[in-house]
Amino acid sequence: MRTVKDFYYKKAKKEKYPARSVYKLEEALNKYKFIKRGDSVLDLGCCPGSWSLYASEVVGEKGIVVGVDLQEVVASPRAGGSEIIWIRESIMKPEMVEAVRKIRPAFRVLIADLAPRTTGNRWADHQQSMVLVRQTLALAAELLLPNGNYYCKAFQGEDYPEFVKEVGEQFQKVKTVKPKSSRVESREVFVLGMGFRGK
Ligand SMILES: C[S@@+](CC[C@H](N)C(=O)[O-])C[C@H]1O[C@@H](n2cnc3c(N)ncnc32)[C@H](O)[C@@H]1O
Repeated sequence: MRTVKDFYYKKAKKEKYPARSVYKLEEALNKYKFIKRGDSVLDLGCCPGSWSLYASEVVGEKGIVVGVDLQEVVASPRAGGSEIIWIRESIMKPEMVEAVRKIRPAFRVLIADLAPRTTGNRWADHQQSMVLVRQTLALAAELLLPNGNYYCKAFQGEDYPEFVKEVGEQFQKVKTVKPKSSRVESREVFVLGMGFRGK
């Protein structure tokens, strides 16, 4: 077992988060403060729930988190955290937007840690990831409030630079983040868009 996995896996267990991926959000948030107290957050690909739990603590009781995943989430909000509403649906379906809009018409922040089912074929996996991240960007255009923020996992490959460019067209500032908890050998990186320009 890798040392890095041990460290973040144990840390997540100790701090009672269901997945080590929570630190890929925490590190970026500590640096760029793109989620604030009282914010509304939409978390796409939220299962098993670590990002939603962490975001709920950051936004506090006056905020709200809506988590969407193909799978059912069983995590409950922690003390002092906001309400979390879980939606079991694919982000590719129009029904998802309808379900989300019944809760909130628009959000201050959209976060997405989606992972496609990998096949081992590098090109196919990259393309599959690009379909998901492009969908999150389209959903950001539909569901973010003006000046809102976006933080999304992507897998680097041929189309990745073009995707970063597309994020830059919708947001005033764009950063690429590679958190310490993300394995060096992994092609995953996180794209942060701050200041949604609006539709
Ligand atoms: C790495 S996990 C997310 C971990 C989560 N951020 C956490 O901290 O607990 C990726 C998730 O993306 C979800 N996913 C993949 N494709 C999806 C889709 N089309 N719609 C909704 N969720 C999807 C998977 O079911 C999986 O739970």
